Amino acid sequence: MDRLLDQNKHNMFDELERKIRDRSAKVGIIGLGYVGLPLINAFVSAGFRTMGFDVDQNKIDLLSAGRSYIKHIESSSIEKWIRAEQFDPTSDMNRLAEADCLLICVPTPLTDSREPDLRYVEGTARSIAATLRKGQLVVLESTTYPTTTREVMLPILNESGLKVGEEFLLAYSPEREDPGNPDYSAAGIPKVVGGIDEISGRLAALLYSQSIVEVIPVSSPEIAEACKILENTYRAVNIAMVNELKMLFDRMGIDVWEVIDAAKTKPFGFQAFFPGPGLGGHCIPIDPFYLTWLARRHGLTTRFIELAGEINSRMPEYVVSRLMEFLNDVGKAMRGSKVCLLGVAYKKDVEDPRESPSFVLIDLLRERGVELIYNDPHIPKLPKMRHHDVPDLHSSELTPETLAAQDCVLIATDHSAYDYDFIVKHSQMVLDTRNATRNVTEGRERIHKA
Ligand SMILES: NC(=O)c1ccc[n+]([C@@H]2O[C@H](COP(=O)([O-])OP(=O)(O)OC[C@H]3O[C@@H](n4cnc5c(N)ncnc54)[C@H](O)[C@@H]3O)[C@@H](O)[C@H]2O)c1
Repeated sequence: MDRLLDQNKHNMFDELERKIRDRSAKVGIIGLGYVGLPLINAFVSAGFRTMGFDVDQNKIDLLSAGRSYIKHIESSSIEKWIRAEQFDPTSDMNRLAEADCLLICVPTPLTDSREPDLRYVEGTARSIAATLRKGQLVVLESTTYPTTTREVMLPILNESGLKVGEEFLLAYSPEREDPGNPDYSAAGIPKVVGGIDEISGRLAALLYSQSIVEVIPVSSPEIAEACKILENTYRAVNIAMVNELKMLFDRMGIDVWEVIDAAKTKPFGFQAFFPGPGLGGHCIPIDPFYLTWLARRHGLTTRFIELAGEINSRMPEYVVSRLMEFLNDVGKAMRGSKVCLLGVAYKKDVEDPRESPSFVLIDLLRERGVELIYNDPHIPKLPKMRHHDVPDLHSSELTPETLAAQDCVLIATDHSAYDYDFIVKHSQMVLDTRNATRNVTEGRERIHKA
């Protein structure tokens, strides 16, 4: 009897393995945002048929009409995938059982009290549990704290009555998407995979190895979850360190960017991180606090993370205080001065405004009576933001007249589309928080850094 059970189990996953190997397995991706959509691209390019699930009907309508809402995924590609029946976007979660493999890329934000907000992960797990069928592989990709797959996902999936490792498979594999980076697409970034058991890990690794350049199997989902948080915490802490050094070196008249450029010539033991007006995006300012919360539950504190958060979140205030000093030097008060903010996306060449320090700068400048305009080639109108009182502004065209009319042009995001020579040439004063003007040769006396 036991032998028969084992045999059935084996057959079920044999079938999944065969379908993954010959790429006839249907891959369902849940959450079609900055991570999910590029992942569809990776699997379609590898010859898989994909289904895309999202609760946002607006996104599904756009995709179904062959239109992209993410800059680095072309509408023409989406149109082609749909025509070739390689991509089937839907908001109908009852169809989750149609996919052989389900990869979850839903948001993992913080609550107002800065605790992990797993409601999207839990909601998705409940939708899957309601339709889970024998032989499916489920992989969580959303960034989260270690133990989420085992202690949050698995108990919900168990409500289906199916048994993990025997009737369905479960793994964690963190997404490492770097939006706006032309050198790395989802398929080109090595992927860490940790299964809840041996067979889950093996088949999840097999699936990714069909479409991703390199797969790194690890011994458990906890290792894979902790790996992602380590990567993001490492960035948050190192960025805080260079931000702190920037404030010290500024005071001493030493250019921190020149220091970093010199330091990075060391061929080992140093990796360059760059200061800026603060941290932004959906990952670096948020993910480390998942770990802080977990540490508290274990009676420990993560002092590096707390300190990094403190320093990084103070940067917009530092920038504004430096602006006040530079205006003061030319006999101008901040109140009533005209400032054009360049860049509201959180980093260069993306259209993503999430957690962007530019919104803190906007708040601070307006509180101090500045007459503000902005330009961002990727964000034509300022979006509503949950934690900010955002003015109703459209991106101003950067004409010589507009630039010359400002008391200061503040570079918050160093988009490649900007002509920095042109900007410096026509501005009375430029405050550069990204060293974007490093190659400008004329008018350098008008450039300040902060
Ligand atoms: N953006 C990045 O650069 C990046 C990089 C690495 C990891 N991540 C992680 O990946 C995850 C997703 O991030 P993102 O930037 O793609 O977010 P996003 O907001 O761009 O996309 C998430 C999508 O999930 C959808 N969604 C929410 N709840 C859902 C549900 N119950 N069922 C189906 N769809 C649902 C939303 O409508 C949205 O379209 C997060 O955990 C994030 O931390 C993001």
